[in-house]
Amino acid sequence: MRLAGKSALITGAARGIGLSFAKAYVAEGAQVAIADIDIARARAAAVEIGDAAVAVQMDVSDPASVAAGVEAAVQAMGQIDILINNAAIFSAAPIAEITQDDYKRVFDINVGGTLFTLQAVAKHMVARGIKGRIINMASQAGRRGEALVAVYCASKAAVISLTQSAGLDLIKHGINVNAIAPGVVDGEHWDGVDAFFAKYEGKAPGQKKKEVGAAVPFGRMGTADDLTGMVVFLASDDASYIVAQTYNVDGGNWMS
Ligand SMILES: NC(=O)c1ccc[n+]([C@@H]2O[C@H](COP(=O)([O-])OP(=O)(O)OC[C@H]3O[C@@H](n4cnc5c(N)ncnc54)[C@H](O)[C@@H]3O)[C@@H](O)[C@H]2O)c1
Repeated sequence: MRLAGKSALITGAARGIGLSFAKAYVAEGAQVAIADIDIARARAAAVEIGDAAVAVQMDVSDPASVAAGVEAAVQAMGQIDILINNAAIFSAAPIAEITQDDYKRVFDINVGGTLFTLQAVAKHMVARGIKGRIINMASQAGRRGEALVAVYCASKAAVISLTQSAGLDLIKHGINVNAIAPGVVDGEHWDGVDAFFAKYEGKAPGQKKKEVGAAVPFGRMGTADDLTGMVVFLASDDASYIVAQTYNVDGGNWMS
């Protein structure tokens, strides 16, 4: 029960990695607000988890929606001790086919969503004197560009940079900001990635997943549950001296 009595707001937690994080936090004694643009699925997730979970409508790319979602989470849980900026979208295209609309959509959600949700929750923490924790979801895609994934990779590099700047700014308030950079994590997100590569590289459905799994030094794709140890640790008292870092949890794909 390393998170007993803590309250966490987790964006994009209606499915995938965020949902696993919500379950892991509840198992450690926390209550969680499952904030997602897909409110029907967030509600179903909260029902599945039980009394320690509440669903909150939030579009992280819309500041008014973020403000309303943060307020709803505070109303439901009393305060927010931990924020996980997990909501994001993927996109892929050759450089010649990238559109302004796609670029803006990805950056509004992955970068603006991370920054302004972090800002809203940090203001709440500072106003209440909460020595909080903020954990951003970066990616191995933020460590190195990829030929067909320019916009998403750039957005995740920006998340790593924001983690450093926010970490340095907010530690004076006792708020630790860090990030996790997963590698390839199987689930609905990667079903979509696989479909992109099927389109652009002519691969059969499922082939890209097999290839990336075989290339991981550990020997397979990750699962959402492979990440929960790190996300619990970063929110726990054991991580109080860790500031502005991004940790690779990727089976050995990237070393830094
Ligand atoms: N799956 C991977 O291989 C992988 C690898 C590296 C990093 N990541 C990162 O981990 C995080 C979670 O990934 P996942 O695989 O669970 O993704 P996912 O696509 O399965 O889940 C994303 C969730 O975010 C929600 N969402 C999308 N747009 C939103 C918005 N504007 N406002 C609020 N919610 C929104 C979706 O409804 C969904 O519930 C993301 O930040 C992703 O970039 C994933």
